[in-house]
Amino acid sequence: MISVVLLGAGNVATHLYKVFKKANGITVNQWFNRSLNPLQPYKNDVEITNNISQLKDADVYIIAVSDDAISQLSSQFLFENRLVVHTSGSVSLHNLDKKHLRGVLYPLQTFSKNTDLNFETVPFCIEIEHKTNFNILKELTSSIGSKSYRVNSEQRSALHLSAVFVNNFTNQMYRIGHEIAESKSVDFNILKPLIKETANKIDNLSPYLAQTGPAKRNDKKTVKKHLKALDKNIHKEIYELITKSIQQTHGKKL
Ligand SMILES: NC(=O)c1ccc[n+]([C@@H]2O[C@H](COP(=O)([O-])OP(=O)(O)OC[C@H]3O[C@@H](n4cnc5c(N)ncnc54)[C@H](OP(=O)(O)O)[C@@H]3O)[C@@H](O)[C@H]2O)c1
Repeated sequence: MISVVLLGAGNVATHLYKVFKKANGITVNQWFNRSLNPLQPYKNDVEITNNISQLKDADVYIIAVSDDAISQLSSQFLFENRLVVHTSGSVSLHNLDKKHLRGVLYPLQTFSKNTDLNFETVPFCIEIEHKTNFNILKELTSSIGSKSYRVNSEQRSALHLSAVFVNNFTNQMYRIGHEIAESKSVDFNILKPLIKETANKIDNLSPYLAQTGPAKRNDKKTVKKHLKALDKNIHKEIYELITKSIQQTHGKKL
């Protein structure tokens, strides 16, 4: 049985609490947040606290708070030499106070408090200072049905940066597509099968091989027509830049 103290009550911590409670082999000894309000609904199921000096014993302390608060919170723990991990993709392991056995348990997925999440779709990137701490984190993730990958700091940063492209930037493309369709009173739902098929395709094809469209085909007239049809300068700039990027990847010139 792996015992856990969870810190934070936001998107990630709330999902972790719920999945840990259901898992065989994990017990949540305590749940800390600086404000007790978000923890109140769970107070009959787990010990809750907002007092950092009264943290209970546990095998792993998981800090799932805002990136900027991780360092300070970890230095307020009264004990040392215990396994303390944070869940951020971008914060260095060294931001955790050096009195701890430090690690990172970065779930590479997008979390929203009120959206259901299947942890089988959440890969965890594990970074640890002492390799003896790897197995317990691996066991923790497999107990909730997740895959885990051991990474170093550079690899975790690269994954976090990649995630911005494949998640945040892609979503902004949906937003722009939505605006363009709406400007001509077209229902955005018509585009949803295309969005889903594009995502599904990379299960079997590399992003390189999956690419289609006027930039890849070097259809100059279509590219020109699209640029003319765009009202906003920022959309023209994005279209030109992404077209250039696709053409460089596929060895063509605008
Ligand atoms: N959301 C995601 O999709 C996602 C994915 C992967 C990794 N992460 C990482 O997981 C961590 C938590 O993200 P989240 O989205 O769950 O955050 P969130 O929903 O914004 O929740 C932030 C939490 O941090 C606490 N907090 C903020 N400032 C604090 C301070 N100065 N001292 C103590 N506690 C403080 C908040 O407490 P109050 O309730 O009192 O305000 C709240 O519990 C971050 O490191 C993030 O990078 C997030």
